Amino acid sequence: EEMKLQERFDARIDNGDFIEAKDWMPDHYRKTLVRQISQHAHSEIVGMLPEGNWISRAPTLKRKAILLAKVQDEGGHGLYLYSAAETLGTSRDQMIEALHSGRAKYSSIFNYPTLTWADVGVIGWLVDGAAIMNQVPICRCSFGPYARAMIRVCREESFHQRQGYEALLTMMEKGTEAQRVMVQDAVNRWWWPSIMMFGPPDDQSPNSAQSMRWGIKRVSNDELRQKFIDATVEQAKLLGVTLPDPELKWNEERQHYDFGKIDWDEFFNVIAGNGPCNRERLAARVKAWDEGAWVREAAMAYAAKQTEPMKE
Ligand code: ACO
Repeated sequence: EEMKLQERFDARIDNGDFIEAKDWMPDHYRKTLVRQISQHAHSEIVGMLPEGNWISRAPTLKRKAILLAKVQDEGGHGLYLYSAAETLGTSRDQMIEALHSGRAKYSSIFNYPTLTWADVGVIGWLVDGAAIMNQVPICRCSFGPYARAMIRVCREESFHQRQGYEALLTMMEKGTEAQRVMVQDAVNRWWWPSIMMFGPPDDQSPNSAQSMRWGIKRVSNDELRQKFIDATVEQAKLLGVTLPDPELKWNEERQHYDFGKIDWDEFFNVIAGNGPCNRERLAARVKAWDEGAWVREAAMAYAAKQTEPMKE
C-alpha cells in the first residue's frame, strides 16, 4: 500500500502536478517543507526589525508611509506563510517556539544592522531584489499552498524592490554629496551579505538535490545568485554606485559576470547565530512575544465567551 502511494506521489511530481495539504506525501517531503516554509516565515517576521528601526526617523511623511506599509506587508507575508506551514500539521506555537529557542533558522541577511537611512533603500533594492529572484521560481513549487502564497508575496516584494531603488535614485540624483556617500557606504556593507542570501554553493548545499528532485526548489542556489548578480550590475550602473567587488567583470564566453570570492566563513558564522545582530534580533522577538501574552489571553477569553451558551 505504502509503495503504491509512493509511486503515485512520484508520478505526480514527475508530471508537474501540485501536491495539496491533504494528499499523501512522504514524511521527508513534509519535513522539508515545514523547515523551508517556517524558516521563510521567520525571515519575514525578523525582517521587520531592521527596517522598523527607521520608521520613526524616515526623512519625510511620504517615506514614512511607504516604509510603514512595507513593514506591514512583511508581517502579512510571515502570517500567510505560517498558515501554509500549518496545513502540514505543525502548529504555529511549535514553529514560534523553534525560532525563539534558536533551533530554527531565518535568513542570514537580517542579522546585519541598519546604520543609516540609505540602508533602508539598499534593503529594498538588493535584499528584496534577491528575495524576488529566489521566490519567483517558488511560485512553481510542487506544494500547492506554498506556491500560491508566493504569487501574492512576489507581487508585493516587487513593489518593495522598486520603492528602495527609487529612494536611492532620489538621493543619487537630487541629493547632496553627503547623501551620495551614504548610499555608496550602504551598498558597500550590504552587497556581499545580499549575495550570500541565496545559500551555500551548490556543492555545499545538503538539501538541494532532494529538494530539486521534489520540485520544491526549481533553480539552484548558484544559478539564482548568478542571475541576481547579472541583473544588479546593470542597475548599479544606472544608479551611479560601485559594487564593492574589483573582480566583477563581464565574461563574454560565459555570457555572465564573473565575481570575486565569497567569504563563506562569514556566512556560516552568521547562520550559526554569531552574526552582528543575531542576539539582538532574537531578543526583540522573544520580548514582543512575552509582552503580547495578555493580548493572546484576552483574545482566547473573548473567543471562549462567544461559544458559551447564552445566560439569562
Ligand atoms: N540564511 C540562513 N540560513 C540559510 C541561508 C540563508 N541565507 N541559506 C541557506 N541556509 C541554511 C539552510 O536553511 C540549511 O539549513 P537547515 O538544513 O538547518 O535548514 C543550510 O543553510 C544549507 O543550505 P541548503 O541545503 O542550500 O538549504 P535549502 O535547500 O533550504 O536552500 C534557501 C536555502 C535557498 C534559502 C531555501 O530554503 C529557500 O529558497 N527558502 C525560501 C526563501 C526564503 O526563506 N527567503 C527568506 C529571505 S527573503 C525575505 O524574507 C525578504
